Amino acid sequence: MLILGLESSCDETAASLYEDGLVLSSVIRSQVDLHRQYGGVVPEIASRAHLEAVDLISRKALDEAGRTLNQLDGIAVTQGPGLVGALLVAMNFAKGLAFAANLPLTGVNHVKAHALAPFMSLPGEDTAPEPQFPLVALVVSGGHTNLYRMDDYLTFTQLGRTRDDAAGEAFDKTAKLMGLGYPGGQVIETMAERGDPEIFRLPRPMLREGLDFSFSGLKTGVLTLYRNHKLAEKPADDITLCHLAAGFQAAVVEVLVTKLMAACAAAGAKGAVLAGGVAANGALRRAAEKAAKKQGLRLYVPPLAWCADNAAMIAHLGARQLAAGQPPLELSAEAFPRWQVA
Ligand code: KG4
Ligand code: ZN
Repeated sequence: MLILGLESSCDETAASLYEDGLVLSSVIRSQVDLHRQYGGVVPEIASRAHLEAVDLISRKALDEAGRTLNQLDGIAVTQGPGLVGALLVAMNFAKGLAFAANLPLTGVNHVKAHALAPFMSLPGEDTAPEPQFPLVALVVSGGHTNLYRMDDYLTFTQLGRTRDDAAGEAFDKTAKLMGLGYPGGQVIETMAERGDPEIFRLPRPMLREGLDFSFSGLKTGVLTLYRNHKLAEKPADDITLCHLAAGFQAAVVEVLVTKLMAACAAAGAKGAVLAGGVAANGALRRAAEKAAKKQGLRLYVPPLAWCADNAAMIAHLGARQLAAGQPPLELSAEAFPRWQVA
């Protein structure tokens, strides 16, 4: 089944061609340069940039896969969660295309789609692993920190979520208050590599209290240390800043990995999934791998390119929904900006 996937929920416009487990093309236009000067995503700017890009990106995805519109079997589009104005751009474009080409259109939950990213591959590469269910998935990004039990590729039950900031948001806010720019995940990881995580020991919020998360207090901890040590007066590559980045990252990683493993034990999982933009973090990947091994679990993590937002994961989940006979979207279908998985 050849599927065109489309994604515009936040600040990446993306399109992808996916067929039977293989990603034939994955085109992503990031808007990060447009939003950087504001220190975060500006919804109005995001919608406008999606509108400018969606047609071109879709054509490019078809071209790069060497396919044409009339070869498609269906279209998948992110229906939520995300910024409503941004979501509507790909949704309306997808509706028009599906109507004109007489193709079924399926609406995809962006967070669920992240969890399917480890299970697709590129043509000519080893085929993606076929997992044994149930799995527990931790989707950790700029907008979400959610734990799910997956009974199959389509059946998700939410086990935990963040009560305030997402982990990626914590990285971004911490980087901003340390004067490191936006987005913050990658820059904190790079600084942390030079730092000692034991010098500034930050709290591990809710470490042993259930499967929900809370990250908003951590940035206050960082801010206090930043002020007390007068770090604003130091150059950006100062080793003390690196120690603070390392201390912060170690706290986030410990909380994420501890809860992922606790959820696996509670759900009787046969494997664990780590996905979303923050899953690109090397320290997190290594810690999760070590903990999973200790617990006798296989860990599934997407390649770096499929951790961040992309449309291949949307096409993948969409293909499975259509194959399972889920009813296609009506032309009147709405976007769900706060779409929660049950
Ligand atoms: O999945 P994603 O591209 O978009 C959302 O759906 O939010 O995730 C973006 C988030 C940002 O908060 C970014 O700072 C974080 O992922 N991120 C990282 C790393 N790379 C990206 N966080 C920690 N370490 C990284 N290497
Ligand atoms: Zn995402």
